Amino acid sequence: MTVSSLRSALRDGTSALHLELDNAVGEFGDRLGYADFVQKTHRFRLAVEQALAGAPEGSWAVEPIADLAAHDLADLGVPKLPEAEVPSRDWTPESRLGALYVLEGSALGARLLMRRAQALGLHADFGARHLAHQASDSQRWRGFLGVLESVPSDMHATVLSAARDMFGVALAIYSETAHECA
Ligand code: HEM
Repeated sequence: MTVSSLRSALRDGTSALHLELDNAVGEFGDRLGYADFVQKTHRFRLAVEQALAGAPEGSWAVEPIADLAAHDLADLGVPKLPEAEVPSRDWTPESRLGALYVLEGSALGARLLMRRAQALGLHADFGARHLAHQASDSQRWRGFLGVLESVPSDMHATVLSAARDMFGVALAIYSETAHECA
């Protein structure tokens, strides 16, 4: 398997899950819908950022956005949801990269989501801080793809499996209705 095919395998192997996630998030055509999205993003990112904290020296580290999402919730006058739990696992460099693919890739979609948030009057200094931050660094994704290139082909399946698991964690959170989170 060539390097670019790991990225293709990740995209192809998670595209159905991404579509499900996209449907769960919906369009957020008003501030209420947007606030629901930010509550879930905060819940997801806080749990996952904690689970992936303490990256080994020299490895790709998570760019945290949970605090910015919390700030967005405060702007919007909306409470945080209760903390979620991520199933524990022994992270290997490869499974960590699979999980990171989901977090890093979400920044690509953030540009589109930022435009939707702006249409609701939100911006980098009010309500859409976490999206503005994610959308601001276009070099980061390129750097991450470079890291994916270093994964030996016999480990590609492990990376993909971890990415699918992390999409599963996201789906569980974004699909919940308000009363299920309590
Ligand atoms: C309504 C919500 C969402 C929309 C509309 C959306 C939209 C998009 C779009 C347009 C891209 C491709 C961008 C490009 O190629 O330039 C993308 C990529 C991606 N998104 Fe989302 N996204 C959403 C939510 C999420 C969430 C919540 C996650 C993860 C928690 C996520 C993970 C990813 C990943 C991993 C990629 C990279 C796919 C690749 O390898 O190219 N997305 N998204």
